[in-house]
Amino acid sequence: MTKVSPSLLSADFGNLDRDIEMLDSSEAAMLHIDVMDGVFVPNISFGFPVMQAINRKARKPLDVHLMIVQPERYVSQVRDCGAEIMCVHYEACTHLNRLVNQIRQGGMKPAVALNPSTPVAMLEDIIDDLDMVLIMSVNPGFAAQKFIPGTLKKIKQLREMIAAHGVNVEIEVDGGINLETGRAVVDAGADIVVAGNFVFKAPEPVKAISDLSAL
Ligand code: DX5
Ligand code: ZN
Repeated sequence: MTKVSPSLLSADFGNLDRDIEMLDSSEAAMLHIDVMDGVFVPNISFGFPVMQAINRKARKPLDVHLMIVQPERYVSQVRDCGAEIMCVHYEACTHLNRLVNQIRQGGMKPAVALNPSTPVAMLEDIIDDLDMVLIMSVNPGFAAQKFIPGTLKKIKQLREMIAAHGVNVEIEVDGGINLETGRAVVDAGADIVVAGNFVFKAPEPVKAISDLSAL
């Protein structure tokens, strides 16, 4: 059973209530919330008022992926939006150890995301403090991009690092996931798959989620 975290970036923002209800009725393990600032990534998605609205409606846990510079400025706001997981980018954090501790103290699960060009080895001295690592399988910023195959090697390396440290850290993979790439990332060692386009453009999104969770 693979955990599925559908990305609301591909939802219909004019019908958010309807789409959140659909996700709540599905086998989704949590809801993936993509926050983009137009600086760390070339796109802007949505901010805290929209996250608050999602949190008021959603019954499943919120998996918040911050593609923003200086994420340390927003720990309390993210917590107040009901996030269960607060995921920050390695490339956006100078003092990652401090921030990870602050996220934990804020009552959330700390997670770190890696861009496709950032080696897994950069996590060697932080992995023990994390609940999840997000491996980006596209360059962050947009939905519906093509999966980068080099991701599979990184998932295997991360799996080995987690085993060597004897810690319980989940591996999430984000970008270009469909049944084919989903199969490949799960075989490589992923625990959680994020899917935006594949779920929301499917004729039956609930079935698309259940197909992914059967991987
Ligand atoms: C990309 C985001 C992803 C994205 C996934 O910057 O972090 O979560 O929305 O969308 P798909 O599954 O369409 O690649
Ligand atoms: Zn994401």
